[in-house]
Amino acid sequence: MEIELIKRDITRLDVDAIVNAANRSLLGGGGVDGAIHQVGGKSILEECKKIVAKQGGCPPGEAVITTGGNLKAKYVIHAVGPVWRGGKYGEAEQLASCYKSSLKLADEYSLKSIAFPNISTGIYGYPIQEAAEIAISTIKSIVNTSVEKVVFVCFDDINFRLYKKLLNINGSK
Ligand code: APR
Repeated sequence: MEIELIKRDITRLDVDAIVNAANRSLLGGGGVDGAIHQVGGKSILEECKKIVAKQGGCPPGEAVITTGGNLKAKYVIHAVGPVWRGGKYGEAEQLASCYKSSLKLADEYSLKSIAFPNISTGIYGYPIQEAAEIAISTIKSIVNTSVEKVVFVCFDDINFRLYKKLLNINGSK
């Protein structure tokens, strides 16, 4: 599985699926959630409402999948990250589970490429170093999957430089 790192607005990516840092209501929010719903359009929210009507909200660590609406991406995988509460409430396991659940869904849909934002490191306050380490180690630990390319999408320089260091990527992109 190829791992790529870029600093971009995830809504611009032409990949099979982009991952949304959603909340358990699945009804949208700010940050990347807001951007994806804004660019993706109302159809994504309608699909989320149908999922909620059927199964209820999505607990932290789990993910659901919708089409990509008006996005270039075919699908959106809505993963709910943990709110950072100091590290003693299972946050690390829940964050790792977001990446595992998202890849599991991508595999079930035989997707080849998936892009992740830095889940939980914005409004949910997860420390970026630990979150990046969990994201990278979790993705690297997954072997049996249809996914051929994982893109880590940073939206700020601090995360981008951190991921570059952790991924041992030299040179600037
Ligand atoms: N493209 C890529 N990354 C983005 C974008 C974007 N368009 N917008 C924001 N980000 C980055 C943020 O800079 C941060 O690094 O996504 C990361 C996650 O931040 P948030 O979007 O705040 O998500 P999170 O911390 O997981 O909090 C989730 O915020 O928006 C609400 O409904 C959402 O309640 C949920 C909570």
